Amino acid sequence: MNKIAVVTGGASGIGAAICRYLARDGADIAIWDLNEEAMASVAEEVRALGRKALCCRVDVSDRAVVTAAANEVRKELGPVSILVNSAGIHATGPFMEMTDEAWDRVMTINLKGTFICTQVVAADMIAANWGRIINISSSSTQTGSPGMAHYVASKGGVIGFTKALAVELGGNGITVNNVPPGSVDTPMLRALEAKGGLPGGVDAIAARNPVKRIGQPNDMAAAVAFLASEDAGYITGHTLSVNGGRYMS
Ligand SMILES: NC(=O)c1ccc[n+]([C@@H]2O[C@H](COP(=O)([O-])OP(=O)(O)OC[C@H]3O[C@@H](n4cnc5c(N)ncnc54)[C@H](O)[C@@H]3O)[C@@H](O)[C@H]2O)c1
Repeated sequence: MNKIAVVTGGASGIGAAICRYLARDGADIAIWDLNEEAMASVAEEVRALGRKALCCRVDVSDRAVVTAAANEVRKELGPVSILVNSAGIHATGPFMEMTDEAWDRVMTINLKGTFICTQVVAADMIAANWGRIINISSSSTQTGSPGMAHYVASKGGVIGFTKALAVELGGNGITVNNVPPGSVDTPMLRALEAKGGLPGGVDAIAARNPVKRIGQPNDMAAAVAFLASEDAGYITGHTLSVNGGRYMS
């Protein structure tokens, strides 16, 4: 493959699995996250797979920091050819009590962060006339979900953003797709369970799911690795649902 991939949120959960899968497929990996210790550990795994790894402490919603990190990636690894926007935060709260601050925080990281990271690295892909952008959205946006209107709206924005860019950048050899995970066993899901945000817990979700289990980070990573591959070059603007049948479209 000989590609350079930036994975935001690559220190944990779905993003960490994506780092491993893309490294397995031959990409060097830049991990952009806030958690330095966890990033370092994922970077070690990438190196053990024989690929280069670079860790950048990045808040995806801070344009200056993102720009500096992109320049560091270009210097240390080369121009970016694959971007996976997996960094995100979850938040809950009844709609009628939702504050402007809570709304803005979720939108800023999940949606604006995706915009900023994509805009900053897309220049490399346009120059190369080749690129893969994969955004991690959420199945909660496909079904609707109570108590998280800001989160669901932010991920709906990510899906719309995916389609808009797929059209705008398609002539530059760049595909733009999104993967909406459904209930994946990560620190984010377990934190929601611990807060009582999953009635009946993870086990109840698994029992309701057609495949009778919840998702694993590798389930998402396999889909992302496919979308990042040469073979997926005729797929763009697509929503590749990986959810065990929770939502079928
Ligand atoms: N786990 C699920 O069931 C599920 C379901 C639907 C969607 N998702 C989405 O999948 C993505 C990955 O989630 P996960 O479950 O692996 O969660 P996670 O909490 O395990 O990982 C998220 C990572 O994003 C990083 N991050 C958070 N804010 C950041 C910021 N401002 N800048 C840089 N990094 C930041 C965190 O440090 C963390 O390493 C998220 O976008 C999430 O919304 C997850």
